[in-house]
Amino acid sequence: MRENEIYDVVGIGYGPSNLALDIALRERELGGPGNGITSHFFERQQRFGWHRNMLLPSATMQISFLKDLVTFRNPASDYSFVSFLHESGRLAQFVNNKDFFPTRLEFHQYLEWAQARVAGRVSYGSKVTSIQPVPDDVTGLPERLRLTVLDGAGEAERMVEARNVVISTGLVPRMLAGLKSDDRVWHSSEFLYKFHRMDPKSLRRVAVVGAGQSAAEITRFLYDQLPQAEVSAIIPSYGYSVADDTPFANQIFAPRAVDEYYFGSEQTREAFWRYHSNTNYSVVDDDVIRDLYRRHYDDEVRGVERLHFLNLTRVDAVQRSGSETRVSLRAGPAGERREIEVDALVCATGYHTMEPTNLLGELDLYCLRDDAGRFRMERDYRIVTAPELRCGIYLQGGTEHTHGLSSSLLSNIAVRSGEIVDSIVARGLAHDAERAMLAEAAVASSGQAAGGFE
Ligand code: FDA
Ligand code: NAP
Repeated sequence: MRENEIYDVVGIGYGPSNLALDIALRERELGGPGNGITSHFFERQQRFGWHRNMLLPSATMQISFLKDLVTFRNPASDYSFVSFLHESGRLAQFVNNKDFFPTRLEFHQYLEWAQARVAGRVSYGSKVTSIQPVPDDVTGLPERLRLTVLDGAGEAERMVEARNVVISTGLVPRMLAGLKSDDRVWHSSEFLYKFHRMDPKSLRRVAVVGAGQSAAEITRFLYDQLPQAEVSAIIPSYGYSVADDTPFANQIFAPRAVDEYYFGSEQTREAFWRYHSNTNYSVVDDDVIRDLYRRHYDDEVRGVERLHFLNLTRVDAVQRSGSETRVSLRAGPAGERREIEVDALVCATGYHTMEPTNLLGELDLYCLRDDAGRFRMERDYRIVTAPELRCGIYLQGGTEHTHGLSSSLLSNIAVRSGEIVDSIVARGLAHDAERAMLAEAAVASSGQAAGGFE
């Protein structure tokens, strides 16, 4: 990275969304107007990683491989999943699988491959801690943003300036209320890291809270990896519900649906959620449900019972002491109370949506909000800001209320990144033209004023 540089675009977070943006910027630089946009990205992890702690064996993607970083924006791009397969020598073998859904492990390899090809403009081990407006010397209006970046060890701090920021810091793990994770209580987002720190022999009774995809995958993993352990699944519903990925429902993830949601009425938006949240939230892929049922049934045939589905059950409280974890449950149709003791408790209790308020600090004062206190968003993913703020604050994520269900997913990242790049270029050109006009007018009026003294 160049020191003391003012960038046109700084990306905060370097997961798939901003990686897709980085590629879109590069492809824009290669052809067409907008050449020479300067950009840099900051990622707090030491190296690229996409939900590494959930890279469980045989976990598959929940979108088609064609919804990769680029294809829906530019099918001719050489950053596609197909290009990756071709370069890896696996294209023919992949096709023989006749499967749209690669493993998460393979998709992770693809993302790593793509980021390695564009690595020059990202600083890893770099956490952005604040963004502040910088007043212009002439106008006094905020024309740039100053970002504070901490290195991985939290020791060195540096400043960078940008005309636009694209915030893409991802989902935020949601724990059970009042519960902190520790060596025996884990959120699913830290699962593999915490699991591998344990001696598997010490895990004789484990429980997983939740009935979403994370919970089901972790339950299956624990059952398979700990053949001596009792595994309890604490499920709020009667049984796991299937994720609807049938073709008509899947249309809500198409780029076109973003317009229908954004420009739709309140009723339209409400209908998206009412009818289709079962495409993504608190639901599980059909094959994982069947895997779990099959394991349970096979045990029953063999007269074994070590996989327990505690249905209609929610966690009320958790008490921790040393290696003991006591979980209070409100269970069954009558809401009876019961307790279980476990050696490890995994909270697969989901995520909060991305919320950049803390990061924005005093800059938040320039960001307009709706009646419900949410950011008002332009269609191009730019936060609606007070007119005096000339810089762009773009969000990739956290826009479910304005852009719909795909906001926190991969489905639309290729097209969304392209739209953000187009917006930055168009607004930048308009801004430059306006400044040039103002400068010309200033020269003209100073000429006239000077003329008056002649
Ligand atoms: P993501 O969370 O991937 O990246 C954000 C990055 O920002 C992180 O690397 C983080 O370290 C970094 N960061 C955060 N704060 C920072 C700061 N202050 N400074 C610098 N860096 C910072 N969706 C889908 O469509 N299909 C799928 O198959 C899946 N699969 C899936 C599996 C699992 C286990 C989960 C939990 C989620 C999914 N998802 C999904 C949804 C998921 O949100 C999506 O896949 C992407 O992670 C979205 O990419 P982003 O880059 O927006 O966020
Ligand atoms: P999720 O879908 O939000 O599910 C969270 C679950 O926790 C829900 O069943 C919720 O029940 C339950 N829960 C919350 N509090 C509880 C309590 N006190 N007691 C009992 N249960 C409680 O979260 P997720 O499974 O982590 O999925 C998040 C995203 O990641 C989704 O987009 C998903 O598709 C994705 N994902 C993908 C993969 C993959 O690609 N293979 C793997 C994992 C996750 P209620 O609904 O009743 O609140």
